Amino acid sequence: MALTDKFGRQITDLRVSVTDRCNFRCVYCRSANHENHMPAGQLLEWEEYERLVRILVGMGIRKVRVTGGEPLVRPGVEEFIARLKATGVADLSMTTNAFLLAERCDRLVAAGLDRINISLDSLDRQKFERITRTRTFDQVIAGIDAAQASRLRPVKVNAVLVRGINDDEVEAFAEFARERDLIMRFIEYMPLDADRAWTRDLVVTAAEIHRRISARWPLLPIAHERSETARKFRFSDGRGEIGLIAPVSQPFCGHCARIRLTADGKLRTCLFSKDDHDVRFLLRGVASDENIADEIRSIVAEKEKGHRINERDFVPPSRTMVSIGG
Ligand code: 5AD
Ligand code: SF4
Repeated sequence: MALTDKFGRQITDLRVSVTDRCNFRCVYCRSANHENHMPAGQLLEWEEYERLVRILVGMGIRKVRVTGGEPLVRPGVEEFIARLKATGVADLSMTTNAFLLAERCDRLVAAGLDRINISLDSLDRQKFERITRTRTFDQVIAGIDAAQASRLRPVKVNAVLVRGINDDEVEAFAEFARERDLIMRFIEYMPLDADRAWTRDLVVTAAEIHRRISARWPLLPIAHERSETARKFRFSDGRGEIGLIAPVSQPFCGHCARIRLTADGKLRTCLFSKDDHDVRFLLRGVASDENIADEIRSIVAEKEKGHRINERDFVPPSRTMVSIGG
C-alpha cells in the first residue's frame, strides 16, 4: 500500500544520511567552531539501514539518495550501495562534496549507483577554499571529471549562493554547465546553518538567477515531474542544463514527496521538522517488519504541511543540514 500523508501527498523519495561527519566545513552549513558528533553506537548499522529501506521500498519508496554529512567518509558505503541496489529501488543516487570521489567513483558505479549530485560553490579556488574552509578545489574538480567520465548520469552540480560571497558567479556557473554539458543547479540558501547567520537578504533568489542567465543566454523551460524540486531550463543555443531550486522564494512543499532518515535512526518528515521520530529502537527491539511499517505509516501521516520559513514565528530546527542529510 502506498505511503501517503494526511494532505494526500504520496511519499516516494527517501534521503538516507549515513554519517553526520564531513571533511568540509561549508560556511552555510557548519560552524568554524568545534561541533559534536554522534557517538558511534548511535549510528545505524548498515544492516539496520538495509532492513528499513527494504520495508520502505515495499511501501512505495522509488528513489533513495545517500547523503551525510559526507557519505564517502563512512567506510563501507560502496557495499551499502550494493545492498540498497538489491532492495530493488528504482533510482539510487548520492550527494557528495566529491573530495574523495575520483578514487571511489569506479567502485560506486560497480556497486550499482545510478547517478550523483556534487556540491560546488565556487569556480574560484580561493573563494572555494574560503567557503569550504579546506584546500580541496583540485580534488573536487577531479571528482567531477571522474563522474563525467563514468556511467553515472545525469551528473548534477549544486551551488548554494550567498549574497556577498559567491553571488558574482552566476554567469560563470552557467558557462561551466555549457562547457561541460552538465546540469548546474542553484539552491537557495536556507536557514539551516550552524552559526545561525542566515538572513533573508543573504538569499539569492531563483528569479534573480534566471534573469541574469537568460540575459546572456536565452533559456527554454524543460518539463518536470510534480514532485521535482528544480525548475529546469536548457540553453536555446547549446549544451548543458540549469536547475533552480527555490525553497525560500517559491516553496514547493505542496508537492513534496520526501522523507529523511538521519544517521542516528530518526525519521524526519521535513527538513524543518520540530521533532523527529526514533525508529532505531524499533530496529533494535522485537518489532516485526509489519510493526515497523505501521509505525512509519503513522509518522508519515503527520508530515508537516510546509516549512514555514516565510512565517513570522518561524524558528530554525535544532539540527543543521550536516546532521539531517541534504
Ligand atoms: N541552504 C541550502 N542548502 C544547503 N546545503 C547545506 N546547507 C544548506 C543551506 N543552509 C546543501 C549543500 C549540499 C547539500 C548536502 O546540502 O549545498 O548540496
Ligand atoms: Fe559542506 Fe555538505 Fe559538508 Fe555541509 S555536509 S560542510 S554542505 S560538504
